[in-house]
Amino acid sequence: MPPSERAALIGAGHTRFGVLPDAPRTLIREAVDSAFASVDRGLERSQVGEAFLATLGFSGWQLGNSAALLAEEAGIPGVPVVRIENACASGGSALRAAVRTIESGSQEAVLVVGVEKMTDVSSRRRRYWLGVSGDTEWERLAGLTFAGVYALMAARHMHDYGTPIEALAQVAVKNHANGLLNPNAQFRKAVRVEDVLAAPRVADPLGLYDCCPVSDGASALLLVAESVARRYTDTPVRVVGAGAGSDHLAVHDRESLTSLHATQRAAAEAFRHAPFDRSKVQFAEVHDCFTIAEILALEDLGFAAPGEAAQMTLEGATARSGRFPVNPDGGLKSKGHPIGATGVSQAYEIFLQLRGAAGARQIPQAERALAHNVGGSGATATVALFERA
Ligand code: COA
Repeated sequence: MPPSERAALIGAGHTRFGVLPDAPRTLIREAVDSAFASVDRGLERSQVGEAFLATLGFSGWQLGNSAALLAEEAGIPGVPVVRIENACASGGSALRAAVRTIESGSQEAVLVVGVEKMTDVSSRRRRYWLGVSGDTEWERLAGLTFAGVYALMAARHMHDYGTPIEALAQVAVKNHANGLLNPNAQFRKAVRVEDVLAAPRVADPLGLYDCCPVSDGASALLLVAESVARRYTDTPVRVVGAGAGSDHLAVHDRESLTSLHATQRAAAEAFRHAPFDRSKVQFAEVHDCFTIAEILALEDLGFAAPGEAAQMTLEGATARSGRFPVNPDGGLKSKGHPIGATGVSQAYEIFLQLRGAAGARQIPQAERALAHNVGGSGATATVALFERA
């Protein structure tokens, strides 16, 4: 049954993404303050009934009980707070929890914040800390990194479908071009296909420009029940679908290396009670932690048939001016990927786009969009659907 109450976004905030000097507390505070400031007719902090913090654990700064820190920094002491950790899908999972909280009628206003601080630890420690979001026993302890897992997927996709390496490079070229127009992006730098192909290999066939970077940053969302949203703004953004799915932790246990079943399951749940189907989605924010991941996402979400996302990419369909723009904010590839903040940041971009407030990177007449967030190598995933009210 569709929910009798829907959730609507009325405010959203964002810090810059990149190598930042700020501590997690400061990042949280900056994102939350900008979210409250973005609400057209003001939401009092005392009106927030519950809050969710998405984080992998900001390099171990505050691994336990970190949601209490959110209550402190957001100025909402005493409010129920929960930390949600689903690796890189923490942000999308926190958004889904907030949506369900509102749909259930238990709260009228909810805050979601995603944060990560990744750049202040040694790369050795970071590799371990990121790696244990994959299968610890069989992958991590055998030395497999995330770039390594996605390289296996890329090699298999190339083998099964003849996917050309130029299509992966084109994902990076497009997302870097979009990031150029995003003032919050970590990399505001154009790259060419030949730069991507000539870059040092990280895990063959993936090179430096096929990878997302290591990033600090935070993002925040304010959601209210749709029935009260117009008290706060004339342009709320409805959340009309929030799905999640899971799969085996280790890639060798999964049915396929060339598709993420967690994504397919998340999409099925998100569309179940949505007022529109895939054909009406105009643009998407998808989880491009590595270039091959954007190709897989387009196929798993049903925007391209298996093996056909490469051609769609090479034809320019996913460019900002194409028929189906993907990652207009630069994606994880160029905007950056502070783990817990990513899924929240995707919704931030959609909030701007659907209100016509995305500036130079605005997609004309944007009304319906999808956000897709993946945990680790695909053991968890979320999909959310948005519509201009
Ligand atoms: N894309 C483009 N440029 C990048 C980059 C990336 N992903 N990562 C680093 N760079 C650039 C830096 O800006 C720097 O440029 P400069 O010399 O002009 O200043 C240069 O490359 C070297 O940076 P450095 O930080 O020393 O790179 P590195 O070799 O330590 O790390 C990666 C590169 C790809 C290994 C690292 O970004 C990485 O591990 N990414 C994946 C993170 C991850 O797994 N996240 C979870 C996903 S599931």
